[in-house]
Parts: sequence; structure tokens; C-alpha cells
Amino acid sequence: MAKVYRLENIYKTYPFNDHAIHALEDIDLNIEEGEIVVILGPSGSGKSTLLNLLSGLDYPTRGKLYYYDNKLTNYNDEKLCEYRRNHLGFIFQSYHLISNLTVEENIILGKKLSHNPLDIDEVLKAVELDQQKYKYPYQLSGGQMQRVAIARSLVKNPEVLFCDEPTGALDEKTGKKVLKLLQNINKKYKTTMIIVTHNPSIADIANTVIRMNSGKIETIIKNKTIKDAKDLRWA
Ligand SMILES: Nc1ncnc2c1ncn2[C@@H]1O[C@H](COP(=O)(O)OP(=O)(O)OP(=O)(O)O)[C@@H](O)[C@H]1O
Ligand SMILES: [Mg+2]
Repeated sequence: MAKVYRLENIYKTYPFNDHAIHALEDIDLNIEEGEIVVILGPSGSGKSTLLNLLSGLDYPTRGKLYYYDNKLTNYNDEKLCEYRRNHLGFIFQSYHLISNLTVEENIILGKKLSHNPLDIDEVLKAVELDQQKYKYPYQLSGGQMQRVAIARSLVKNPEVLFCDEPTGALDEKTGKKVLKLLQNINKKYKTTMIIVTHNPSIADIANTVIRMNSGKIETIIKNKTIKDAKDLRWA
């Protein structure tokens, strides 16, 4: 299996008064193509910092970081921006939809950023929003809004989808539905998914579970069996 990301001896350090804060310390990690990776860990353990490095929003203080054969640590801002635009999708806890655009128009926005977009109607079907395409965000439920946000990042056909607390604002039933959708997309498009969450139940849908603590990787576990999102027990 090809490695999408390779991290060697990565540090992210912030100067603070007379000492340094190690947001990340000595991280070695491989992420394989088509995996679902779930990152767990207490607040302040370095999850977002790690996500920001992988997704080219920030540079490590030291260490090597590769996306396939590309050394991201050698990229300038412009190349990182291009990397994000051409290869990555993002989903956040809040949906960031444009309120005066319809479902369809919000999704078209994502399509404009891509060289090899998917067909809008195919994506609308995949997220089960084909009946809602002319609605505005205020006419949707939370779960539907999150599915629009997912569709908007999917229509780009990204190689990697970064999800920061994708179900954080959703109830159990809707949260599971959104995760089930992510699972289906992972199967269908082989999209590599990197999900940060406080909800340990979500670890059961992952191929790989990374636990972080105080800027370090505590454990990396490969799940032998992977649960269907609809069978998760919600924490
Ligand atoms: N710009 C900064 N300057 C100084 N310290 C920072 C900065 N950004 C992050 N940190 C510190 O780095 C550590 C890791 O932060 P990070 O945001 O990665 O945690 P997290 O695991 O995402 O937490 P949460 O679950 O609360 O989102 C924390 O101790 C944080 O205070
Ligand atoms: Mg965070």
C-alpha cells in the first residue's frame, strides 16, 4: 500500500516566555492510501497541530514531512496553497455554508476549486441530498447541513479528506449517518480520511487509531475488525 504521508522526527515548538512549548514532539508516522485514521487525545495534546501540518496550514519546527514523494517541508506558501487546493478536502464541526446560496450552489463552490471534479448530481445522491438541492441552508437540519459541507469537499474529488470533529455538533442518530456516509465515500472513492475527535466510539470505524498525549503519539493501533458506523455505541 502506498504511503500518503510520511513523518520523520517531527517537532512543532512555540516560544513562550523563557521556555518552549512542544505542541508536537518527535512524531514518526505513516498514513497509508485509502485508510480511515482516527486521532484521539485530550484537549491540548496536539491533534489540531498535527492536522495543520499534514494539511499544509503550518510548518513543523523540525523534522521531515512527505506527501507521497513530495517533501512538504520544502514547499513555499504558494505551493502549499496549491497542494491544499488540488488534493485536500476539509470538514469542520461547524459547516461554513454560504447562507444566501442554495445547497447546489454551495456544492458548486467546491467544484470550482478542482481540476478533476465529480459530477454534482452524483455527489448529491451520495449524500442523499438530491431532493434538497434548491433549498437554502436555513431550511435544512444540522445533519443535512453537514452533508452539504461534506458534498462540497467531496465534489473536488480530494485524495485526502481532513475532518475536525465532523460529528461534534450532531446528535447520535445524525452523527452515525454522517459517519456512515464517510465510510461509503471511503469505499467508493478510496479517499484517505483523517478524523480528529473527542468521541472514542468513532475509533471503531477506523483502520488506524492514533492516541496522542502531551504532543506525543502514545499508541498507534490497527483495528482488526472495523465496525459499520450504524452499529457504533456512542460515547
Ligand atoms: N500559537 C501557539 N502558541 C503557543 N502555543 C500553542 C499555539 N498553538 C497551540 N499551542 C499549544 O500547543 C498545544 C497543542 O495544541 P492543539 O491545538 O494541537 O491541541 P488539540 O489536541 O487540538 O486540543 P483540542 O482538543 O482542545 O482542540 C497546546 O498546549 C496549545 O496550547
Ligand atoms: Mg484541536
